[in-house]
Amino acid sequence: MLSQKKILLAVTGGIAAYKALELTHLLKKQGAEVRVVMTKSATAFIQPLSFQALSGHAVHCELLDVEAENAMGHIELARWADVFLIAPATANTLAKVAHGLADDLVSTLYLAATCPVYVAPAMNHAMWNHPATQTNLKILQTHGVNLIAPEAGEQACGEVGIGRMSEPEKICHKMISHFSTPQILKNLNIVITAGATREPLDPVRYLTNRSSGKMGYALAFAAQKAGANVTLISGVTQLLQPQNCHFVQIETAEQMHTAVFEKIESCDIFIGAAAVADYRPIVCGGEKIKKNAEQITLTLQKNPDILADVAALENAPFTVGFAAETHELERYARDKLTRKKLNMIAANWVGREKGGFEHDENALDVFWQDGQKTLEMTDKSKLARQLIVLISERFYAENI
Ligand SMILES: Cc1cc2nc3c(=O)[nH]c(=O)nc-3n(C[C@H](O)[C@H](O)[C@H](O)COP(=O)(O)O)c2cc1C
Repeated sequence: MLSQKKILLAVTGGIAAYKALELTHLLKKQGAEVRVVMTKSATAFIQPLSFQALSGHAVHCELLDVEAENAMGHIELARWADVFLIAPATANTLAKVAHGLADDLVSTLYLAATCPVYVAPAMNHAMWNHPATQTNLKILQTHGVNLIAPEAGEQACGEVGIGRMSEPEKICHKMISHFSTPQILKNLNIVITAGATREPLDPVRYLTNRSSGKMGYALAFAAQKAGANVTLISGVTQLLQPQNCHFVQIETAEQMHTAVFEKIESCDIFIGAAAVADYRPIVCGGEKIKKNAEQITLTLQKNPDILADVAALENAPFTVGFAAETHELERYARDKLTRKKLNMIAANWVGREKGGFEHDENALDVFWQDGQKTLEMTDKSKLARQLIVLISERFYAENI
């Protein structure tokens, strides 16, 4: 199942390093070619010789090793790999790679590798739950790193909690599914908008909405993993900027419109997940509005309709819109689908206890001309992957 797949396995210094021996064995048994690199700390737990015997290749541990660089140096190792797998990944190594440190072989390989990266963390539950580790994992997510989450249970230190490395069988299975997952959007250009726009009232204040950008960013990650070339055009959010896509930061609806139309000609699929302000203040003065009057009246001007303008193009891309509704979800969503000539619309409820703006979870009712599908409440990353699969199915159905 992993025949001729090249897996570069980095072993770092935790108790679970012994499990990497079993992992090497399982990967080899599946037909993978495995090369092992180790941190200095890892060699205190397991001898490199054991990995050498199991992998059938010399084990690399040093960055500044003249002989190793002469044979298969760090850049060649990084280029060689189809997948870079760090298992177990210590809190220390996660911190180093999240911040771009490159002071040993494993962290340098992380920076040099252009292939997909998987990490299987293993550590004491307090280390796992520490805000520093959790922040580092969020940063790694923005690099496109795939997390093989640790499990809960009794730990080597005798305590109970989350932090045990996922079992070697499970990690091996992840590798198998990695290579058997088709790149359903390979070579397609996708433009995604995300977040809320800000419409300035004066140099200090602006009108905006509750969109967090989480759904649009999750879609950008999912599309990227499906092999697409992604452009993410985003309003101001609290989210970390994804690394492996073309990222355009905007503030107003008009700026988003301009940014979208700069990219739209070569675009195959357009996903409008941003909550674009329908109106902007007609006047935005250069001076702060003073608190003199009891009442003031704002006059608003309609903003350009990005979604409708994209769908109206002569060579329009496959266009997907979003609808956030507080009532009559299907009626409003279907009306928007038809009125704006969209290929698909993903509708969700807002103002309810679960799902919608700002939440980490959501559910979607997706409609197209002659069909619909419900994607049940789940975290936005999983939901985004499901929606990307659905979009690709409809895209190919309409473009054959
Ligand atoms: C007995 C022992 C067990 C350890 N187990 C872990 C562990 O499971 N996870 C972890 O993140 N650190 C663990 N550490 C701490 C790491 O070894 C330490 O942070 C080290 O600097 C990691 O280096 P590396 O990331 O370069 O491999 C352990 C330390 C000792 C002494």
